[in-house]
Amino acid sequence: MNRVPRMVLFGAAAAMLLASCAAVDDAARSDGARLSKLPPVVSPADNPTTPDKVALGAKLWIDPRLSGSGKTACTACHVRDKGWTDGLVLSQRDNGDANTRHTPTMYNVGYSTLFYWDGRAPTLEAQVLAAWRVQISADPAKAVATIAAVPGYASEFQKVFGGPPSPDTVVKALAAYLRAKVSGPSPWDRYEMGDKTAVSADAQAGFQVFMGKGRCAVCHTPPVYSDFNFHNIGLEAGKAKPDPGRGAISKKPEEDRSFKTPTLRSVAISGPYFHDGSRRTLEDAVRYMAGGGGNDPGKSAMLVDAKLTDAEIRQVVAFLTALTSTEPYRAPTLP
Ligand code: HEC
Ligand code: HEC
Repeated sequence: MNRVPRMVLFGAAAAMLLASCAAVDDAARSDGARLSKLPPVVSPADNPTTPDKVALGAKLWIDPRLSGSGKTACTACHVRDKGWTDGLVLSQRDNGDANTRHTPTMYNVGYSTLFYWDGRAPTLEAQVLAAWRVQISADPAKAVATIAAVPGYASEFQKVFGGPPSPDTVVKALAAYLRAKVSGPSPWDRYEMGDKTAVSADAQAGFQVFMGKGRCAVCHTPPVYSDFNFHNIGLEAGKAKPDPGRGAISKKPEEDRSFKTPTLRSVAISGPYFHDGSRRTLEDAVRYMAGGGGNDPGKSAMLVDAKLTDAEIRQVVAFLTALTSTEPYRAPTLP
């Protein structure tokens, strides 16, 4: 039973790689077949995404009144200009506790099926509730009372959910907002749509290396440039207290020290890199991956030393930089 889906997966990955090589030669093919075209995000039946709900979530996202201290909004650690990360190796929670893992991006989180680096949250709603309690140290009931006393919020919740704010509807609005965080058109998307001047020759060469010799797309699969799967790439090797990652959640020893593959869209602005924030620049991170990762006996067999030259590394960096989202962001006004 185990073997069949696995083979199907590998078959699909191989077909994808072949198809993508053809796509490079014909990057301006019809939009429907465009390799990097992002599909619509699917919302759960009990929390459909609507424009009004997303607009409400956008306010809650930047509102420090949701937090225990009244000072920390979600966006304190997930900043637009830093690719919805914080630029820090490790951040500090609202209550002063240190996080043990690096802040991930919010771009394309709606495509993910399990949340956090180790996938311990089964739904985005569960994840948001946990972040509300832990990252911004809120007592949801208390925070909701604060929000409910703001007239602008009361009427907006009424309009969107047909009632006053509750912990459930605050979570739903935030989750809907995050599902709408699909990365906007990047130079690479414009190139694929036919604008041959949108990216440099290095970026075009970098895409070839990424899909081919570098074997990156096996895990960073277009269009999101992630498989949303968990892999051990060797970062915990040699640490005094290795982070068990996915293994602690799934209880499968073969998943020890595995972490979720991040989307590479907007990766150029979201350093430092990896779940431990251990690599400062994108080039450092690409070199680490292209070199086959760390020296861990449990490391994924899909990650090998691709023997890229310095020029090829720079080309891959140029390609990844061309994946930077250029959508405008204007923070809403709080009620
Ligand atoms: C103090 C910094 C900080 C704040 C504030 C913060 N986060 Fe995060 N966020 C993190 C860190 C660190 C992680 C990764 C933790 C892990 O994987 O163990 C994370 C992970 C996430 C993820 C999972 C992403 C994925 O790919 O699985 C989501 C979604 C998220 N946060 C949403 C929120 C929301 C909503 C709020 C406000 C209620 C919030 N965050 C506030 C630091 C923060
Ligand atoms: C075996 C699957 C796999 C392959 C192959 C792979 N990656 Fe990754 N990549 C991952 C995972 C998993 C992470 C996150 C690991 C962690 O933090 O523990 C990651 C992280 C990254 C990051 C850091 C992203 C961030 O936001 O922190 C970059 C950059 C990256 N990979 C580039 C590449 C490049 C370039 C290649 C090809 C040379 C490649 N990867 C090949 C699975 C893979």
